[in-house]
Amino acid sequence: MSDRDTRASHERAEAIREEHARLRLLLAEMCEECELARLVPLLQQLAEELALHFETEEAEDGFPAVARLQPRFAALMEEVLAEHRAFLDEVGALLRRAELCVVEVKRIHEEAVAVANRLHEHEIKENDLFLEIATTDLGEAD
Ligand SMILES: [Fe+2]
Repeated sequence: MSDRDTRASHERAEAIREEHARLRLLLAEMCEECELARLVPLLQQLAEELALHFETEEAEDGFPAVARLQPRFAALMEEVLAEHRAFLDEVGALLRRAELCVVEVKRIHEEAVAVANRLHEHEIKENDLFLEIATTDLGEAD
């Protein structure tokens, strides 16, 4: 391995480690968030950033280059590259489930508002009925 190759490999490894540090911050924020409305954008961000990060690692000058330069790590490189697809699929599935939940929560809220409006009308009807009963001469005084 030439000095130039070694230097390029170290620079690439350093860039990847910096991306890992940024991802850790995002993951920490996501782990703290259980409010669905705020979790969805974090999952969207994670899906986008993971895809870009894995692209960097899988680029010709990324892990494949390291595997060529250091063949003893080739098997481990294959293993981590294979995990990328599984992570992307898993985060994508979580995001779709979370988005469906947001839609469902919105529907439930709309239906709750509709029930509230109908209950309001129902109570007005009852109040009017009580008022009418109270002011109606039942003829019992005769
Ligand atoms: Fe990575």
